Amino acid sequence: MNISVVILAAGKGTRMHSKLPKVLQPLANRPLLEHVIATAEHLNSRSICVVYGHGGETVQAHFEGRDIAWALQEPQLGTGHAVQQAMPHLQNEEVAVILYGDVPLVTAETVEKLAGAAVDGPAILTAIESDPTGYGRIIRNPEGAVVAIVEEKDANDEQRRINEVNTGLMACPVAQLGPWLDALKSDNAQGEYYLTDIVASSVNDGVKVAAVTADSPTEVMGINDKAQLAIAERAYQQRQADALLAAGVTLADPARLDVRGKVTAGSDVFIDVNAVLVGDVEIGDDVTIGPNCVITNTKIGTGCTINANCVFEDAVIGNHCDLGPFARLRPQAELKDGARVGNFVEIKKATLGEGSKANHLTYIGDATIGKDVNVGCGTITCNYDGANKHQTIIGDNAFIGSGVELVAPVEIGAGATIGAGSTIGRDAPAGELTIERSRQKTVSGWKRPTKKK
Ligand code: UD1
Ligand code: CA
Repeated sequence: MNISVVILAAGKGTRMHSKLPKVLQPLANRPLLEHVIATAEHLNSRSICVVYGHGGETVQAHFEGRDIAWALQEPQLGTGHAVQQAMPHLQNEEVAVILYGDVPLVTAETVEKLAGAAVDGPAILTAIESDPTGYGRIIRNPEGAVVAIVEEKDANDEQRRINEVNTGLMACPVAQLGPWLDALKSDNAQGEYYLTDIVASSVNDGVKVAAVTADSPTEVMGINDKAQLAIAERAYQQRQADALLAAGVTLADPARLDVRGKVTAGSDVFIDVNAVLVGDVEIGDDVTIGPNCVITNTKIGTGCTINANCVFEDAVIGNHCDLGPFARLRPQAELKDGARVGNFVEIKKATLGEGSKANHLTYIGDATIGKDVNVGCGTITCNYDGANKHQTIIGDNAFIGSGVELVAPVEIGAGATIGAGSTIGRDAPAGELTIERSRQKTVSGWKRPTKKK
């Protein structure tokens, strides 16, 4: 059975009070619609069609280059009307799976179950809600078969007490769907063409409607305002934490971890509270991550210790490195095995060689540092002349004293020692002591000024 996915994303989302169209509101840093498209891509469907309207070009621009068919719905006359706009993209012998751009947490397994139930007729995805307010209600006959969906605004008091609700997600053989959509009428409380009315049409035509019930109402929650967005975010984060726990990661508190991307972790990894992991984060075996670390697109080797309050972005960290507290790695920072970066050290576009150390208060930018180098406290690579960036190269075993300014371009030879407080603007030879410092003098008998009376 071939399936095609239709994602409804034309609605306005007034309750978000935002310039950003609803389906572009971020859940874990990615637009709501991106989550739904990712789920659709998991299904091996023949095509994915997004019905768009509000915020048109902005929405499309976000997914440029993706294999998506776009169907414009203008004006927006209801969910049935929306699916109709996608019909030119569907083929008669396949099953259409209808997802909502604002229902981001539904899993591929649930959608597969729904599609599998729609071989001979439509299948709807329902959920049991303790508070069903706002949803369409599922009407079953005394035998338990689904006979209709009634929208809240069209329901009578008795129907409103039903707590089995329509999630909106649905699957239906395309051959049946077309004629039912064509026959939809808008004579209801909202004056819209309701997709949900195809259920009654199906029953009228003697075609049984299958119902699949979602495991949890959270999975199928629709996001209409910021409060629901926040609930969905927590539910999403709980899932990420559960996945890491299942993979053997120790989390100090699963409720105080935020994953906004993809994290892979080896064995015996410990993550303390308030870690924010963004983009692709790869963590090796035996790694400890201290509290309050923000780690973006970074690879961390085996046996590393990341102390509290570190911020890394686009960095590569070798094995058995020790970082922080308060270390900052900016894009293209690379630490070789056994390197150590201490507090208030910033590294950008630079390599710190095997076993090398920069333990305190240092800026290293546009530099290549060899093995077993000691970079003293307060060292600065002066990489920027106001117009261009320049390189600093430091050979193996060099010792850079505290408070040294290395005015790039400059090269420090292997085994060189640079005296504390030097401003080094010319290359320093290997194996020698280079020092740039004015002679110290003492003014004897000098008196400190005193406050005037
Ligand atoms: C719909 C269902 C309701 C269900 C609820 C679940 C209908 C008639 N009702 O109601 O039974 O309980 O979802 O959340 O289907 N959209 C368009 N074009 C339109 C209208 C909507 O693309 O003309 C899209 C929206 O962007 C959204 C989805 O369809 O992604 C649902 O629209 P919404 O207006 O939120 O539907 P509800 O009234 O909540
Ligand atoms: Ca100086």
